[in-house]
Formats: sequence, C-alpha cells, structure tokens
Amino acid sequence: MTPPSPFPIAGGIVIASHNAGKVREIGELLAPVGVTAVSAADLGLPEPEETEDSFAGNALLKARAAAAASGRPALADDSGLTVRALDGEPGIHSARWAGPERDFALAMERVNRALGDAADRRAAFVCALAVARPDGAEAVFEGTVSGHLTWPPRGDRGFGYDPIFVPDGHAPTFGEMAPDAKHAMSHRANAFAKLLSAWRAAE
Ligand code: IMP
Repeated sequence: MTPPSPFPIAGGIVIASHNAGKVREIGELLAPVGVTAVSAADLGLPEPEETEDSFAGNALLKARAAAAASGRPALADDSGLTVRALDGEPGIHSARWAGPERDFALAMERVNRALGDAADRRAAFVCALAVARPDGAEAVFEGTVSGHLTWPPRGDRGFGYDPIFVPDGHAPTFGEMAPDAKHAMSHRANAFAKLLSAWRAAE
C-alpha cells in the first residue's frame, strides 16, 4: 500500500544528515519553498546505521529515524557514486570507502586504483531523497547524473568525489564548478526537482 503523501509541509524541516556539504547543498536547494531547515547534527539526533541495500531504502530509513526522534518532518538524502567497471561500487558504500576519518582524498585514490587502466571510466552520481513525517506519511524521489571519472582530482569546490567526476557534456569536474552550475545538473538537483514539484502540487 502506498503511504499517504507527506506534503504540504509548513514551518520547518529537519535535514537528516550529519554531512555538512550535503546540508549546505540541501539548504540552498530548499530556498525556493521558503522552508526553514535545521540539521540533525544541530538537534543532536543520532545517526542510524544504514542497513538497507538501496539508496531509496537508506534515505527512507534516515528520514523516518529523524522524524521519530525530533517529532518534526524530516528530509534525508542517500547518495553516492556508482562506477560501471566496478559493478556499481562504491555505490551505497560511498561514504564508507572514505574510512572512519571520512577522507575523500583516500576514497578517490581507492576508486582510481580499483579502476586501474580500465577503458570504461563511466560513472554516475545517484541521489535518493526521502521525506517522512512523524505520522507515517512519506515519499521518496530519485535523481542521477552521468559522467566519467578523471585522474588526478581537479578543483576544491563541492565535496566528496566531486574532484574526479566530469558530468557528460562538460569539461570541468564538479569540484571545479560554481555551486549554481552543479545545482543546475546534479543528481541531487534532479531528485529535488521531482520533490519540489510534488510539494508544490500539494500546496
Ligand atoms: P551517504 O549518503 O551519507 O551514505 O554518503 C554518500 C557519499 O556519497 C557522500 O559522503 C559523498 O562522498 C558521496 N556523494 C554523494 N553526493 C555527492 C556529490 O554531490 N558530490 C560528491 N560526492 C557525493
């Protein structure tokens, strides 16, 4: 059975993430609906273990946990880099490849080493956004952006794997792009466009 829609949402929403880069981007992407965003880290909410085997499953798990712990509507992002020649890895394990120190220079090196001299360097970022309310209403939206991996890393903007990802049809990496340029095409922007249209349709 499909759960009831969580929209419209009035007032504030909890961003169920402890990742400062993601919280910043989500705050920027939410600006058009004029909702106040507060992060799970600011509220001191615990970070649940990501036990599902899909981006959508993990996004829902995080949104439900934050909604239950805060008593407010929550928005969670589960995302990652999927690499064709690595059977989709690091995928849902993208954060884990950076180790306990969340060292993305190391994670990028690991990906590059695993790729070796593979001719196929195609990759995609995937983002699942889940919205959950404490009363059980919820929805999930997915977005992707395709591209290829370059080496060495370029650019110090963005976060995570951005410096090695070149989106299709462009020359700079996500790490070299201004935030507005990345927001115009990213997996997260893509998922957000779907979320915002469901949100607006309910207003
Ligand atoms: P999780 O969704 O918190 O499990 O972590 C996903 C990981 O994927 C992040 O820590 C980043 O390393 C990576 N990731 C997700 N979105 C992006 C992006 O827009 N740019 C670069 N890396 C990303």
